[in-house]
Amino acid sequence: NKGKYEHYMQKEIHEQPESLTTTMRGRLIRGGSCKSMSVLLGGIKDHLKTIRRSRRIVFIGCGTSYNAALAARPILEELSGIPVSVEIASDLLDRQGPIYREDTAIFVSQSGETADTLQALEYALENGALCVGITNTVGSAIARHTHCGVHINAGCEIGVASTKAYTSQIVVMAMLALAIGDNTLSSQARREAIIDGLFDLPSKVKEVLKLDQEMKNLAQLLIAEQSLLVFGRGYNYATALEGALKVKEVALMHSEGILAGEMKHGPLALVDETLPIVVVATQDACFSKQQSVIQQLHARKGRLIVMCTKGDAASACVGGSCRVIEVPQVEDCLQPVINIVPLQLLAYHLTVLRGYNVDQPRNLAKSVTTQ
Ligand code: UD1
Ligand code: BG6
Repeated sequence: NKGKYEHYMQKEIHEQPESLTTTMRGRLIRGGSCKSMSVLLGGIKDHLKTIRRSRRIVFIGCGTSYNAALAARPILEELSGIPVSVEIASDLLDRQGPIYREDTAIFVSQSGETADTLQALEYALENGALCVGITNTVGSAIARHTHCGVHINAGCEIGVASTKAYTSQIVVMAMLALAIGDNTLSSQARREAIIDGLFDLPSKVKEVLKLDQEMKNLAQLLIAEQSLLVFGRGYNYATALEGALKVKEVALMHSEGILAGEMKHGPLALVDETLPIVVVATQDACFSKQQSVIQQLHARKGRLIVMCTKGDAASACVGGSCRVIEVPQVEDCLQPVINIVPLQLLAYHLTVLRGYNVDQPRNLAKSVTTQ
């Protein structure tokens, strides 16, 4: 039931304040007699000790689920101190990459049925790793075959392009990082700030959804373009990849997510006064590096659309003029949840304006159950 919306993708983008609330329900604990804050993930609490002892954490997924793992990697590394790698399921299988008994392998899948992810799960089970699932579908193959896991509880997602599952996956992985790091005193203040940030996140998502009309106007401007580049780094490298994935899969426009740190190693050659480029430059430890990227893109007369923190337009857009998307600020590791929303809206409006099928893009399936 699409309710007041025209398409499922539109509905699923707009229901993110609610889906995120459901994802966190009963899992965040604040206050109480000792005023402590913590996270309770019922599905993994008995396995936390084993996870903390593992030599490596490996995320495995495809498409948007892979991007979500990439978004969560920095905070998991920070709070756990354990090396974290992120694998595309098919690539891990192609390489028969090493997986050990001392590894924790985390399988991320909205449907819980993706063939490559499932096969990688069998492979990791054979190799003796602790296998953890992060899925939206109770009773799915991945939920059944993993040793333990967390349901993201985002509600049924119908649009082929994943939207609300992506933001809920990131939130679950951030909660996982908090749970793993729960026994470390030195990071307590950081963890409490993130938990506060999680409580506020649905209202911040509601705020960023107000950019709907602005994103529609931007889509109108980009309607006839051949290509769109999206630059990001740090927490928001994943935002660049996921934003570009949305644009290509539904709006059928070539789009590429680019790690800004790699700009000079190739992508800069593409920059001219015609190609539109989105640069994600919200406040975090990488901000000054992104300012310098923007400056260099301006020097090549790049057509820039800069996503920055509210009130930062002047300092973000250095060295020239650019269109600006201002978003609310949240704790740095949660910022990818906010930043993807305008790009989801942009992809949605581009698709409608270009006259393509929003919910069932050409040649794609919601769940890829064959290899
Ligand atoms: C569970 C209940 C929830 C109830 C809550 C109350 C289910 C599905 N969830 O939620 O309805 O309100 O307790 O305490 O009944 N699992 C995997 N692999 C996966 C995902 C999950 O093995 O990929 C396992 C978990 O280890 C766990 C079970 O499935 O044993 C349920 O997981 P989850 O729904 O995340 O647990 P709770 O949040 O505790
Ligand atoms: C398909 C979907 O390609 O599978 C994508 O169209 C999705 O939206 C990908 O990200 C992975 O699916 P899942 O269910 O394993 O997360």
